[in-house]
Amino acid sequence: MKKIGVLTSGGDAPGMNSCIRAVVRTAIKNNVEVVGISEGYQGLINGDLADMDARDVGGIIQQGGTILKTARSEEFKTKKGQREAIREINESGIDGMVIIGGDGSLRGARALAEQGIKVVGVPASIDNDIYGTKMSIGVDTALNTIIRAIDQLRDTASSHNRAFLVETMGRNCGYLALIGSIIGGAEYVLLPEIEYNVQDVAGVIEESYMKGKNHAIIVVAEGAMFNATRLSQGLKDLDVGFKTRVTILGHVQRGGSPTAFDRLLGSRLGTKAVQGLISGKTDVMVGLQDHKMAVVPLAEVVDQKRALETEYLDLFKFVS
Ligand code: ADP
Ligand code: F6P
Repeated sequence: MKKIGVLTSGGDAPGMNSCIRAVVRTAIKNNVEVVGISEGYQGLINGDLADMDARDVGGIIQQGGTILKTARSEEFKTKKGQREAIREINESGIDGMVIIGGDGSLRGARALAEQGIKVVGVPASIDNDIYGTKMSIGVDTALNTIIRAIDQLRDTASSHNRAFLVETMGRNCGYLALIGSIIGGAEYVLLPEIEYNVQDVAGVIEESYMKGKNHAIIVVAEGAMFNATRLSQGLKDLDVGFKTRVTILGHVQRGGSPTAFDRLLGSRLGTKAVQGLISGKTDVMVGLQDHKMAVVPLAEVVDQKRALETEYLDLFKFVS
């Protein structure tokens, strides 16, 4: 392995920079050159490549976002787009790729591997919806943002005797909402994986009111049966004791300085990915299992759907 390429793709996640830093420095210390590709797969198609050295990744470990920038590329989903990307990889003498991104980006990595490119994927997405790793880069930082927001909302909710419907990200996966509701002390949570009706939510809010609480916090994943806005409309004509307000956390959850956990996870996964490529591994993703680094076939990652841990569903019921 003489030269590796690295890119970030899909939704950005805090900790991507610590991963890029680890990739570049681990490669250089193993006498492997590194090429950084801007804006994900689209940058690869466009030939937006630049050599990177150890100094290029100095002073970035504390920064959210990704210095390589990220993008979504419809063109790369086509055979023609992939052909252009592979041509660019070969022309620039890259003999291995590290792809840092979410579920979709790892599907792209698999497509490259199936066409003969040596690829190691790194899971990075605040959604924590990727099979084969307990945690993806960015999740911990997003959870910390969510609980900070819930704590602040509780201050104002308690002062006004209000119920807040707090919407987290998670189009298909309820991890952020479920864990956010446990560690944020919410009264109820709505997840994409479960069906609900407005009456049940109304019942929980009213019960909180009758218990004498001075607030209620309902966490809603954006992909749940009702998002926070629709839920609020459904509750509009029902008397639940509290007046309700909606707060959509949105992309605030994707930004910010990565937590200690995400900096360490990004560093560990980045180094492991390069070591994997150097030792001849391809068509795999590096991940975290039982607190240790693991190597999982990309085929498994993209074919399997990560399920919500029942342990956390049960935990919420006990502590709420
Ligand atoms: P994320 O990686 O955060 O899940 P996306 O799902 O948008 O984000 O995927 C990022 C990019 O990965 C897409 O824009 C596309 O270029 C590539 N990609 C996604 N799915 C596939 C696929 N099935 N085959 C090839 N490339 C894909
Ligand atoms: O990063 C994943 C995610 O946050 C999803 O939960 C969300 O639906 C999506 O990205 C939105 O991303 P964008 O606005 O970049 O399309």
